[in-house]
Amino acid sequence: MNWLDVFCHPLWAVSTTLLALVVRLQRRGRWDPRTCNVQLKGKTAIVTGANTGIGKFIAMDFARRGARVILACRSEARGTAALTEIREKTGNADVHLRLVDVSSMDSVREFARRILDEEKALHILVNNAAISGFPRQITKDGFEISFATNHLGPFLLTNLLLDLMKRSAPARIVTLSSVNHYRGEVDFSHFKGDNLVHHMDTVYNHTKLHNIICTNELAHRLQGTGVTANSVHPGVVMTEVMRNYSIIVRGIFNFIGIFFFKSSEEGAVSPIYCAVAEETEGITGKYFDSDCSLVLPAPLARDAALAVKDFEVCERLTSKL
Ligand SMILES: NC(=O)c1ccc[n+]([C@@H]2O[C@H](COP(=O)([O-])OP(=O)(O)OC[C@H]3O[C@@H](n4cnc5c(N)ncnc54)[C@H](OP(=O)(O)O)[C@@H]3O)[C@@H](O)[C@H]2O)c1
Ligand SMILES: *[C@@H]1O[C@H](CO)[C@@H](O)[C@H](O)[C@H]1NC(C)=O
Repeated sequence: MNWLDVFCHPLWAVSTTLLALVVRLQRRGRWDPRTCNVQLKGKTAIVTGANTGIGKFIAMDFARRGARVILACRSEARGTAALTEIREKTGNADVHLRLVDVSSMDSVREFARRILDEEKALHILVNNAAISGFPRQITKDGFEISFATNHLGPFLLTNLLLDLMKRSAPARIVTLSSVNHYRGEVDFSHFKGDNLVHHMDTVYNHTKLHNIICTNELAHRLQGTGVTANSVHPGVVMTEVMRNYSIIVRGIFNFIGIFFFKSSEEGAVSPIYCAVAEETEGITGKYFDSDCSLVLPAPLARDAALAVKDFEVCERLTSKL
């Protein structure tokens, strides 16, 4: 008998299916938003990139808990579709769309100005919008587009809304990073597109490392204010995140995903945990894994001196724009 024949045996099909099922069940997180009855009536929350993927389910959860929710999206059409869906599914009419392109510092400033004009308080800010696998491009501010979208835009947005959040304390800032940050590197010339290799998710990995580094430094600066700042990995989630990759890469991702990856709703669980759970109250400057456990981020993300430097570089880059 050829050893390959074993793969044709019915027992092979049965056992692999069973194994796949076990693996799928294993993905279930340890915390369930449905059993958490924290209410958010009277609270205001902003979620960036809330029209699809993980962001939409985060916004949906906040709306279900009665929060005033602001969907910060770049497309009026896609944003309106999500707004209608969230209002319908949750019965909460206090959900609103505000347009922002987080890759543009002008747009971020304009968005923040409007929020500061219109909102009396801000209790939750979720920096969710991001891109992956995007080809090299320099924005009109002179930044590499993935760095502008995933890090510098959210960095500026957070800083502009900080005073409002301090006045609204207790308040929480949650930034979606990724397990990919372990493979990221820090090189300040990356921000403007220098010394970068655009291959697969290299650039994305760098941006997700900066997310954690600056969130940790922010947490440090916010000590005693009642505003917390944490980073979180949502898991490997079947969203539109792979939209910039080739059809082959997307095909493989989606096929493997059927068995191993989370749905967008499941991917929203760990960010929701950071943003609303009683268990995470007061926790700041930490990194949460997709199963809602506290884990250590990469060594570079724990280097306090590097964090001070990175934060200052980002402040300088975004301050004049
Ligand atoms: N999916 C995963 O496996 C995974 C793993 C680890 C971490 N994450 C993180 O989870 C977060 C959400 O990702 P996702 O998987 O839900 O991605 P997604 O399905 O691609 O959704 C991304 C969202 O961000 C928005 N966005 C992108 N660029 C923007 C810009 N310049 N201005 C405003 N909004 C912008 C998109 O808006 P449009 O629809 O208009 O493009 C969309 O609403 C990201 O921070 C990602 O890094 C995801
Ligand atoms: C980016 O991170 C992912 C996940 O850790 C890893 O598989 C991939 O190889 C990294 N990419 C590069 C170019 O380092």
